Parts: sequence; C-alpha cells; structure tokens
Amino acid sequence: MPPWWTLIRNGVTREHYAMITENSVREKLGEVNYPGFSRDIVSFGLVKEILIDGTDVTVKISLATRDPNVPRQIHEATEAALSALEGAGKISVDFDIQDPPDPVTGGDPSAGQSSIPGVKKIIAVASGKGGVGKSTVATNLAIALSKTGAKVGLCDCDLYGPSVALMLGAEDEQPMATEQNEIVPIEAHGIKAISMGFLLSEDSPVIVRGPLATRYTQQFLRQCLWGELDYLILDLPPGTGDIQLTIVQTVSVDAAVIVTTPQEVALIDARKAIGMFAKVNVPVAGIVENMAWFECDAGKKYYIFGKGGGAKEAEKRGVPLLAEIPLDPQTRDRADAGQPVALEDPGENAISAAFAELAKSLGT
Ligand SMILES: Nc1ncnc2c1ncn2[C@@H]1O[C@H](COP(=O)(O)OP(=O)(O)O)[C@@H](O)[C@H]1O
Ligand SMILES: [Mg+2]
Repeated sequence: MPPWWTLIRNGVTREHYAMITENSVREKLGEVNYPGFSRDIVSFGLVKEILIDGTDVTVKISLATRDPNVPRQIHEATEAALSALEGAGKISVDFDIQDPPDPVTGGDPSAGQSSIPGVKKIIAVASGKGGVGKSTVATNLAIALSKTGAKVGLCDCDLYGPSVALMLGAEDEQPMATEQNEIVPIEAHGIKAISMGFLLSEDSPVIVRGPLATRYTQQFLRQCLWGELDYLILDLPPGTGDIQLTIVQTVSVDAAVIVTTPQEVALIDARKAIGMFAKVNVPVAGIVENMAWFECDAGKKYYIFGKGGGAKEAEKRGVPLLAEIPLDPQTRDRADAGQPVALEDPGENAISAAFAELAKSLGT
C-alpha cells in the first residue's frame, strides 16, 4: 500500500484514499441482495472483482441466469449502494452473464432453490436455540405422519450435532451411494432418513466452517435420492445463521415449525427463527412448545421452565400453537434407545397422541 503522501502528489486527497477502499466497496455491496433473496451478492460469491481508480469504482459481477431482470435489478441496486459511498466518483458495473448450469448443480441461486423432484411437501423443523427438542419433534413428527399412511423422509441437516440416526436406532446403518454420487436414504420405522450422522463416524471431528459448510450442506440436500415422498421433514441445526439460510434457500420449504421451550431465553431465539423465515418468505405453520410441564404426584403438573410461554408467543406472532409436549422421561429414554415415542399407540400414550395431533395439523 503506498504512503498517503504519494497519493496526494498524484492528485488523490487523503480523505479520498481513506474513504474508497476495496473493503468499503465490498461492505456496501453487502447491502445489495440477489433479487428475490434475502442474501446479498457478496455472500453468494457473485462479486468477482473490485477495481478502484482514484475515486472511480468498477465492480465485476458474474451471474448465471437467463432472466434479464436479474442483472438490471442488481445493476440499479449496486449503483445506488455505491453512490452512497462518500467521495465516490464514477461507478461502473460490468457483468459476466452465463446461462445457468443444470439447476441441480447450482449456479443461479434462484434456479438452485428447487423443489425436490417427487417430494410433495417440505417441512422445516427449526428453533433458534439448541437442546429444546428439535430433533425429538422432527423424528416423532415424521413417524406420526407415516402412521397416517403418508410416505415420509427425514433429513438431519445438523452438521455439528446430528442426532436423527441415534433417535431412529440406525447409527450402524450405512447409506449407499449410486454411481452418480447420489445418497440413498436408509429406512427405519417405515420412514426414509438421511443424516450427517450417517456420513461421519462418531469421533471424526467436523471442522467444516463457513463457505465449505454451506457447500457441503447444499450438496448434501441435492444429492439425496428420496424417490416419491408426501412429506420431507428437515431437522435444521439450531440458530439463524448462514447454514440455516442456505438450507431454506436451496430447497423450497413449504412450512416451518418452530420448536421452543417455555422460558424467555428460548423464546428470544424462537423469535429470531420466525423472523428469519419471514425474510425468506417461508410460511410459519406454528409453534410447538416442548418440555411444557412435568407431570407427577398423580397428575399434578409442574411448570419447570415457566407456564404458557409458547402459547403467548404464538398469539403475539399471530401463528398457531401446534402442540404442547410435556417433559417426559420416557420420551428421552425412547429417543436414546432409537424407538421414538410416536411409535406407541396414541390411544394409550398421551405424548404419542400429541405428536399424532401435530401430524394431523400439518397434513394437507
Ligand atoms: N419432551 C421431552 N421430554 C424429555 N426429554 C426430551 C423432550 N424433548 C427432548 N428431550 C431430550 O432432550 C435432549 C435434547 O433434545 P433434542 O431433540 O436433541 O434437541 P435439539 O435437536 O433441539 O438440540 C435429548 O436428550 C432429548 O431426548
Ligand atoms: Mg438436534
């Protein structure tokens, strides 16, 4: 980097030098969203080059789309964003536009958000916070739906803490891959399932971060060979970050179910999850309050994590409260043993009945 006084000699003032930098341009470009997406063109990796000549800025953007509106809108938004840079001179936007490759392999982010062929409805089970029972709800919901006669798939999208394999009692199963590198789900308790847990051994570290994790997840979602399904349940990782956004922008999710426990710390994160789905236009089907109470002493209920937090939140957000699942040792036991409680007869088991109701409310 040249010292600032040589720039003054060349006619560029110190202020200009300080103001227009590649970083400041990149930061502004981070405000330009890909049309129809809540994600920006920088994080999509579309900005190929930033050239700064004194106060003039040229940005090279590479797109893979046949839709002329995409470059037009990005052009306008980019000019508007960069003009807001103090001291900016001429702004030029150069496009390198290619035809989109096969949507399965990606390229155009909008083409990449595809329905999975043969899959009728995709339901994401999400929470802001970890440990609230997302995987428990996803697994039992999948089983309850399949007991209605539907064909169901369950996809564990949690790279860092997969648990669906354990909950289905299928940790030892190895999914097969086809010659085209598609992953064939395993089958357990009448549902098809695939989990990052199937792909990693228990003690192999998962040091996949940032863009690599995003790519891994996209590939994973696109390469599963589900066949015909009435429902595909996605067990999302906790949080509302890049990975979660990538998932809901890679496949077109029809509905989101938010799992929370009743206390404020969980509700704060549930709110963030609801906000994330609103941003990407995924309808929130409702809230499931898990660990709602603990029942003992001949039917006396103890509200360990507070009472009615899920119901109040649902009312505030204008979404249904889909189910209240109590804290129940048997539910935990059966998850650990790979025999989800929803396998029980709903007529004889209240928790199984709650999951059957949840399945009914999400069925179409
Ligand atoms: N209603 C419940 N009653 C008892 N234990 C539960 C209940 N829901 C979840 N658990 C247990 O709590 C732990 C965390 O649940 P899990 O579904 O893995 O959460 P998450 O996927 O949100 O991290 C697991 O051991 C699970 O068996
Ligand atoms: Mg989980």
